[in-house]
Amino acid sequence: MTKAAGRIAGAVLLAFILSGCSGVQSALDPKGPAAGELARLIWFFTVLCTIIWVLVMGVVAGILLRRRQRRLHDPLRVDQDEERTISRVVISAVGATALVLVGLTLLSFFANRTLAGIGEDAVLTIRLTGHQWWWEVRYENAEPNRILTTANEIHIPAGEAVRLLLESDDVIHSFWVPSLHGKLDLVPGMVNTLTLRADRPGIYRGQCAEFCGAQHAHMATLVVAQPRAEFDAWYDEQLKSAVEPSSEEQRTGRDTFLNGPCVMCHRIQGTPAGAITGPDLTHVASRQTIAAGTLRFSRGNLAAWIADPQGIKPGSKMPVMDLDGDQLNAIVAYLESLK
Ligand code: CUA
Repeated sequence: MTKAAGRIAGAVLLAFILSGCSGVQSALDPKGPAAGELARLIWFFTVLCTIIWVLVMGVVAGILLRRRQRRLHDPLRVDQDEERTISRVVISAVGATALVLVGLTLLSFFANRTLAGIGEDAVLTIRLTGHQWWWEVRYENAEPNRILTTANEIHIPAGEAVRLLLESDDVIHSFWVPSLHGKLDLVPGMVNTLTLRADRPGIYRGQCAEFCGAQHAHMATLVVAQPRAEFDAWYDEQLKSAVEPSSEEQRTGRDTFLNGPCVMCHRIQGTPAGAITGPDLTHVASRQTIAAGTLRFSRGNLAAWIADPQGIKPGSKMPVMDLDGDQLNAIVAYLESLK
């Protein structure tokens, strides 16, 4: 029974791997030119190394079987013919190994060159700053009133190259959206450049790939690739100031927010809240997740997060606040209206 279950699990795992782990974040499920180049490299290395491994194991097995069949002879007697054959085999094997290694190195080199060439026509520059433990996303623009700051969710136009300037303001993080590109570190004090391009519209999950502290695992990001018109509409919407509260509860929520410690860290454009230590909340309700992918955006999760951030993401910079039930509900109602 357990043997059968093991076989089934193995078959499912194999099917999952061969299908490119489609549907989850996976380097084997490329959706952009850079990831495609890397996936080709991964498969070529894997297939070639598997063939070599099978060949080597076959030769080892063959030798072991031959040795067992042969009679033991005087170990001091040297068979010149056999010695020559062994020398030839060893030299050929060393030559083949060197050739394979040089070949694979050249392949990696040319793949890197191809990656560097992608996106010289980038249409957009996004400054992505890593924080413990969230992503600050700032769309640069020559016109200062078109500069846009958001968090954790990176919207890009599908089919167009976007330049990312990677920075960090605390420790080393690593930006990795496996379906679109390989990893690149965000290092304090320097700027690394990476070009993203998604061939088709879709949502691609990414994850910080460099251990950066207690909540490293809760530092996810979503790249949302949209058709150009949809992206432009999103951009214009995000540039607007936050909507005014439309109910009494939302008004109470805004006042509680503005008179509480929330304003020490967060910004809501169009209100006096202008701090940039934490994520910009001007359009927080338009995002799919909260706390950098830790929870899906919903009224319940938002309330849970504000009530007990240290229970949900221990060590995060979001403090536990002294709010009664009504205040909590009011803040949630207000934030939920910030589409
Ligand atoms: Cu940021 Cu790991």
